[in-house]
Parts: sequence; C-alpha cells; structure tokens
Amino acid sequence: MKRIAVLTSGGDSPGMNAAIRSVVRYADFKKIETLGVIAGYRGLINGDVIPLNRRSVSNIINRGGTILKTARSEEFKTEQGQKKAVEVIKKNQIDSLVVIGGDGSYRGAHALACRGIAVVGVPGTIDNDIRGTDKTIGCDTAVHTALEAIDKIRDTATSLERIYLVEVMGRESGYIAIHVALGAGAEDCIIPERKFDIQKMCKDIVQGNKKGKASWIIIVAEGAASATEVAKKISQTTRLETRVTILGHIQRGGIPTAPDRVLAIRLGAAAVDLLLKGQRDKAVGTISEKINAVDLEEACKKRDIEVDNLYRLIRIVT
Ligand code: ADP
Ligand code: F6P
Repeated sequence: MKRIAVLTSGGDSPGMNAAIRSVVRYADFKKIETLGVIAGYRGLINGDVIPLNRRSVSNIINRGGTILKTARSEEFKTEQGQKKAVEVIKKNQIDSLVVIGGDGSYRGAHALACRGIAVVGVPGTIDNDIRGTDKTIGCDTAVHTALEAIDKIRDTATSLERIYLVEVMGRESGYIAIHVALGAGAEDCIIPERKFDIQKMCKDIVQGNKKGKASWIIIVAEGAASATEVAKKISQTTRLETRVTILGHIQRGGIPTAPDRVLAIRLGAAAVDLLLKGQRDKAVGTISEKINAVDLEEACKKRDIEVDNLYRLIRIVT
C-alpha cells in the first residue's frame, strides 16, 4: 500500500479533524502517502482531491468541523455515481480509502467495497448510533455542549417557574437526549427507543404542580417528537406555561473534548493499521477501551442503546 485517501462525509462532528490528522501522520509514519478528498463522496465523484502531509494537518487537533469539508451526495447513491468514484480512485492510484462519517457514510463505504475498493470506516457522528464501538467521535462533545446550554436554561426555568422543552439532535437515536437528561437533572426525556405517553406526562406534571413543583425541564430527541408539538399539548392539557428551545446545530460544533480527541487519534491510526493488514470493508471502533473492527454492513445496522436503566434513574433522582 503506497497511497491512501481520506474523506469526511455526512453530518460533521467535533473530532473529525483530529481523526484526519491521525490518519495522515500515522500513514506518513508507515511511509504511505495520503490524499484528502474534498466534500465527501461528492468530491470523490468529481475528482476533487488534494495531497496531505504532516504540515497540512498542523493546528487542527482542537478544531471542530472538518478541514476536508463534508457533503451529502444523492449522486453517489446511484450506480453511475459509484462507478465515477471508482474511476477517480483508480485514476489517482489510490490503494485504499478511509471514510470518516456516520451510518449513511458507512453504507456508501460498503457500496465502494462491493465494487472492489479497500475501505475502512471511522465512526464520526454525534449520534453515537454505530455498531461495533462504544462511542463515536463527537458524541461526547455534543453531550457537553447541550449540557452547558441546558444549565443556562435551568437558571431561567427555576426563576420564572415554567415548563421547558429542550429539543436535542439525534436523527434516529436517543443517545444524546438520554445522557443529557441524566446529566442536566431533567425531569423527563422523550426518545425514539421508548414509548412515550403524553397523557401520563401531563398527569405527572399536574400532580407535581399541586405539590408545589413549579418548573420542569423535559428533553426531547428530535427523532422521537417535535418539542414544539409536545409543548402545545402540555400547555393545552395542564394550562401551565411552556417554552421551547431547539438546540440544533450548536451541538455539532465546538472544540472537541479530550475523550473525543483521544478516540479520534486512536481510531485514525487503527484504520491505517487495518488497511495495512489487508483488511477491507471494515469499521473501526473501541469496545471497553480496546480497538475493535466489524464489517461495515454490520456497523450500520440499527444499534440498541442502554435506555431502561438510564430512564429509570432519571425518574428516581429528579
Ligand atoms: P451520515 O454519514 O452522517 O449518517 P448521511 O446519512 O447523510 O450521513 O450519508 C452521507 C452520504 O453517504 C449520503 O449523502 C450518500 O452520499 C452516502 N450514502 C448514504 N446511504 C447510502 C447508500 N445506501 N448507498 C450509497 N451511498 C450512501
Ligand atoms: O447525523 C448527525 C446529525 O447531526 C443528526 O443528529 C441530525 O438529525 C442531522 O445530522 C442534521 O443534519 P443537517 O446538518 O443536514 O441538518
């Protein structure tokens, strides 16, 4: 293996830059050249590649986002798009590819592997919804960012005695929501992994209100419900005042936390190692702190997260 390429794809996540840096510098250590693909699979189709060296990845370890940019490409989902990407890979004499992204990007990576390309995936998504790894790069930072914001909301929620609904990211996963709810001391949490009963929630609120409880923080995972709709129902049923905050894309930005940087550096290097061992169509991760590899196809299946115990605790300790 003489030349590899690295790309970031789908939703960016804090720590992607640290992963790019690790891929480039570890590959250089192994005497392998690295090309960077600009804007994910779209750049791969268009042949938008640049040479990367140790210097080009200086001073990025602490930066959110991705210096390589990212994109979502409908064209890549087509046979014609994938054929173009394979041609670009061959034309640039790229021996193997590292794809940093979420489950969608992994599906794309697997499609390339099926066309004969040696690909390894590195889990870069705030959603923590990839199998074969305890954590994905960026989820720790996203939880911290959301917590910081909710701590501020708590100040005003307690002062003005209202019910605050806070919507957090997580397209199909309640990982961010349930961890944020526990860490922020929220009263309740709505996630896609658990059936949600609005009438029961309203009953709890009314009962609590009668006992003198005047403020609530309820975390809503965007993949489970719309916080705005839930707030409407709560105020109609309980006649109490509600407010909604949608945290949105602030959760995707910012300085990556130490755990995200360390994970990114370990997994970037592990991806290069795996390719050097002749492995392909794999995804790297860590399980109980140890480097792990699973088939890409397995990595993008729906992942079960620990929900019941965490939810039980939220209800007990608030
Ligand atoms: P994420 O990687 O964050 O989950 P997306 O789901 O948006 O992000 O996927 C990123 C890109 O991966 C898509 O825009 C598309 O180019 C590619 N992709 C997703 N699903 C497939 C698929 N089934 N086959 C081929 N490419 C895919
Ligand atoms: O997959 C990561 C993620 O941040 C999800 O949590 C969220 O639903 C989605 O991306 C948002 O995507 P976009 O940037 O296209 O709005």
